[in-house]
Amino acid sequence: MNYRHAYHAGNFADVLKHAVLALVIAHLKKKPAPFRVIDTHAGVGLYDLDAEPATKTGEWREGIGRIVDADLPQDAARILAPYLGVVRGLNAPGTLTRYPGSPVIARRLMRAGDRLVANELHLEDFAALKELFARESQVKVLQLDGWTALKSLLPPKERRGVVLVDPAYEAPGELDRLVQGLKDAARRFATGTILLWYPIKDVKPVAALRRQIAELAFAKALAVELMVRAPDDPKRLNGAGLLVINAPFTLPDQLDVLLPHLARLLAQGAGATFRVDELGRETGQPSVNLGKGSAKDRP
Ligand SMILES: C[S@@+](CC[C@H](N)C(=O)[O-])C[C@H]1O[C@@H](n2cnc3c(N)ncnc32)[C@H](O)[C@@H]1O
Repeated sequence: MNYRHAYHAGNFADVLKHAVLALVIAHLKKKPAPFRVIDTHAGVGLYDLDAEPATKTGEWREGIGRIVDADLPQDAARILAPYLGVVRGLNAPGTLTRYPGSPVIARRLMRAGDRLVANELHLEDFAALKELFARESQVKVLQLDGWTALKSLLPPKERRGVVLVDPAYEAPGELDRLVQGLKDAARRFATGTILLWYPIKDVKPVAALRRQIAELAFAKALAVELMVRAPDDPKRLNGAGLLVINAPFTLPDQLDVLLPHLARLLAQGAGATFRVDELGRETGQPSVNLGKGSAKDRP
């Protein structure tokens, strides 16, 4: 396990993932019934952007660094508000030195009766996460294999909530485990939302993943993808994707407003684009494109 998220925290992929996670949680809060957030690959929770890993790559500067003070129209700003509210809440006005990982975003957005289970396998990262939440009775920190956690923690007793599956994609065959894991998770927690992050380096494995997910025929499945440049070099992280199973009904419209701005602000080269595809069986087709555009198309 070599992957350390501290090098990548706050990059463009985190922006997409964390903005959507915050929107899903904001939607869950519209009903008073408690919910649970399950984070199977949680990382350390809080990242110091002035520390060596983050300064070495500088990835956050092309991610949250471009978003936090961006001049956005009101509708897009409203959609980003749950996410940016957490980021700003950790930093003194006008500064950006701390970045929240997914468990901290979840914790900061939860209400008194909601719960978080944050799982992390890496020994040191687990220890840091455990320490971070040491005095938090609403948070349980576990050190399981994330795919095992996905099985053993579902369904949560609340029967409402969101599961974030955010692997490091270091192990060979992780994309295959992902399809099987997703299938099991959706069966065990049919009422929950599942968010699964995937990298886009080369487009071929991603197209294959979209096809495999479409074949599982979920009632509601979205593939949300943001490219920061054309995928000409398959060794680079050219884009990021999120599968959203049982997406809140409000999400496609929110993405329609938000993604043109993210594609524009986060672009790192020619060919910055976004797309949202519905991969579920309700459409009667394997894949229906709900929206697509380039950084230049709209605002
Ligand atoms: C992309 S990072 C997670 C980032 C975090 N979800 C966030 O958004 O802030 C992936 C994490 O998975 C952990 N990891 C790697 N293999 C794992 C496994 N088999 N089970 C659980 N965690 C694992 C890594 O140590 C790393 O912290």
